[in-house]
Amino acid sequence: MAIRNIREIGDEVLTKKCKAVTEMTPRTAQLIDDMLETMYEANGVGLAASQVGILKRIVVIDTTGDEPHILINPQILETSGEQTGYEGCLSVPGKTGVVIRPNYVKVKALDREMKPYELEGTELLARAICHELEHLDGHLYVERVEGELMDVDDMEEEEE
Ligand code: NI
Repeated sequence: MAIRNIREIGDEVLTKKCKAVTEMTPRTAQLIDDMLETMYEANGVGLAASQVGILKRIVVIDTTGDEPHILINPQILETSGEQTGYEGCLSVPGKTGVVIRPNYVKVKALDREMKPYELEGTELLARAICHELEHLDGHLYVERVEGELMDVDDMEEEEE
């Protein structure tokens, strides 16, 4: 496994639409392992392949620290409710902003054996699913922020 370089806002690759994965190859399996390692090393809860410069429809998410979800070619089946909260992104370091998301999301995807499965999430997991899937279509959460994008450092000072 290897840590990959996380692309940051302003990098064109983050605005590109990712392509569906048609077969699991050793190269794609390696990419998934590297994405997980890169996400954990950066203390993130999710990472999309485009964030490491690869335009494939692959997302990894782990909102609890010990339950990695691998979503290949994910599609949202159902959403409900609403949550308002702060969001951040490893590709937009040091920033945060308020984004409204559904409170419940049901998604279908392929696992790393390319077997279809469904995943349901509420609260942070629902937020992470929505956030990561938008990366696959070339969108960043900053496009959806209510009000101002803020510096994380300023927020921490306000809390003191
Ligand atoms: Ni992100």
